[in-house]
Amino acid sequence: MIIRPTTTNDHETIVNIAIQGWRHAYASILPATILDNLDPDQRLSARKSWFNHPEKHSFVAEIKNQIVGFCDFGISKQPELAEGEIYAIYVLKDFYNKGIGRVLMTAAFNFLQQNKVKDCIVVAFAENTPALIFYERLGFHFKQLKDTTIENKFYLEKVFYHNFVGPMEILNSKD
Ligand SMILES: CC(C)(COP(=O)(O)OP(=O)(O)OC[C@H]1O[C@@H](n2cnc3c(N)ncnc32)[C@H](O)[C@@H]1OP(=O)(O)O)[C@@H](O)C(=O)NCCC(=O)NCCS
Repeated sequence: MIIRPTTTNDHETIVNIAIQGWRHAYASILPATILDNLDPDQRLSARKSWFNHPEKHSFVAEIKNQIVGFCDFGISKQPELAEGEIYAIYVLKDFYNKGIGRVLMTAAFNFLQQNKVKDCIVVAFAENTPALIFYERLGFHFKQLKDTTIENKFYLEKVFYHNFVGPMEILNSKD
């Protein structure tokens, strides 16, 4: 497996991985109408403009030339809580539990640390239990609850916090 910075050629693949991830991970959290109507074109154009921002970064994990996961990160959208933020991390379902998420997250941590970012947050649906366990395994601690609105409906989210206390190494995947 290799971890490398995302390029503009990766946007379409990343959007597809994110949509598959939403449909799988949020099937019991969000209404089917939302998940069925996720629009790849709209997401692609949002991603393209997101990617142009100098403080937003992204890594992909590749196995045998196939992108199997990605992690988006950068400056925190809630600077009162932390300097950095993990915006999104998604791994293809067939590749869960092989250490890919851990390696992607560690690469993001290292990047942030090298850029003198002292701490970071990540926000997840409060009901996304597997992701919450994953974040705790990666050294995050629950910080606070947060509301979010999607199509006029409230959802509860959990904000997790990670303080970078020392140098970390990129860990090998189990694959
Ligand atoms: C969350 C996600 C990124 C984890 O990726 P992954 O490659 O499967 O995770 P890893 O194999 O690197 O696991 C790292 C650690 O988390 C734990 N973990 C991962 N998934 C878990 C699960 N479903 N339940 C319990 N623990 C889990 C692993 O046991 C491992 O712990 P350990 O190394 O201490 O033994 C992946 O499941 C995913 O893409 N989920 C759907 C999208 C999503 O919910 N993203 C978060 C949005 S906020």
